[in-house]
Amino acid sequence: MSFPIHRPRRLRIDSRLRQMVQQFVLRPEQLIYPIFVVEGLAEPKEIGAMPGQYHWPVDRIDEPVKAAMRDGIGAFMIFGVPEQKSADGKSAIGQNSVVAKALKKIKKSCPDAYLITDVCLCAYTDHGHCGFVSEDGITVDNDTSLNQLAEMALTHAIAGADMVAPSDMMDGRIGALRRRLDENGFCNLPIMSYSAKYASSFYGPFREAAGSAPGKGDRRGYQMDPAVIRDAELEMRLDLEEGADILMVKPGLPYLDVVKTAKDLFSCPIAVYQVSGEYSMIKAAAARGWVDEEKVAMESLISMKRAGADLILTYFAPQVARSLKGGRFA
Ligand code: PBG
Repeated sequence: MSFPIHRPRRLRIDSRLRQMVQQFVLRPEQLIYPIFVVEGLAEPKEIGAMPGQYHWPVDRIDEPVKAAMRDGIGAFMIFGVPEQKSADGKSAIGQNSVVAKALKKIKKSCPDAYLITDVCLCAYTDHGHCGFVSEDGITVDNDTSLNQLAEMALTHAIAGADMVAPSDMMDGRIGALRRRLDENGFCNLPIMSYSAKYASSFYGPFREAAGSAPGKGDRRGYQMDPAVIRDAELEMRLDLEEGADILMVKPGLPYLDVVKTAKDLFSCPIAVYQVSGEYSMIKAAAARGWVDEEKVAMESLISMKRAGADLILTYFAPQVARSLKGGRFA
């Protein structure tokens, strides 16, 4: 097994052969584009920490969807930013909530768009935590939060969501959502669980985008510790038992070992979220001419495929889809 009989370069020298032996491909059908809908906004507004991504008013939220669909993207993750915040995040509930209005708007003008909603209270609570907070203002109370999260998922289902994606990291939330959905006739609505969601500083730009940074404390009491992998297996197993259909790992690039673990252990589809910080770092370095934006973005995404991701949530989705069609990566 040695040189000169073996020359691994033989398969690399001819570009046609290189293509023939590729093992992983990115397909636009596997990309999910996260979009932000903001209540009470008059005009679209670029998000400072996420160049190229926008806050959209409810009555224009179909515009980024239409544009991305022209590029070949069919699936969207919708994040709502409400006008009203309260301790219990009640503006997340009901058909007048920002996401419910956005779902109806998009379904009307783009009936084929596949709409997934983020189910979490952090953008709706005045304290910025993902569930109800106890008297100390810091500890998140798991069990009392579950009902509100289930109501939020039901709100989205009634408004026309095709899938719900809980990202709050409360224990038992998948079961709570599954039961509430089933009781109300939505037994065929899939749940994609943000199962292995780490307490990550890579969410920094998103918190500006969603206005969801916690006022006091941080999310380490419910999101996972970056120094631990054993919880990832446990969280994913529990979520599957409670009825999750798709498991997600988040963030992406710094957690590819977790994606690989998920792929090896479970047979359901695995999603990975290339989060805001990953996006903004590439944009920032590219803006300075330090890296090639298209190449670095594509290489990051193909590494996620290699690790075992079936679906990828990425703010680069429309650009990548254009690029895959042979167009320019703008
Ligand atoms: C809500 C939520 C967050 C993200 C997705 N859903 C932020 C957080 O947990 O603080 C992050 C997405 C991104 O950074 O792109 N809980």
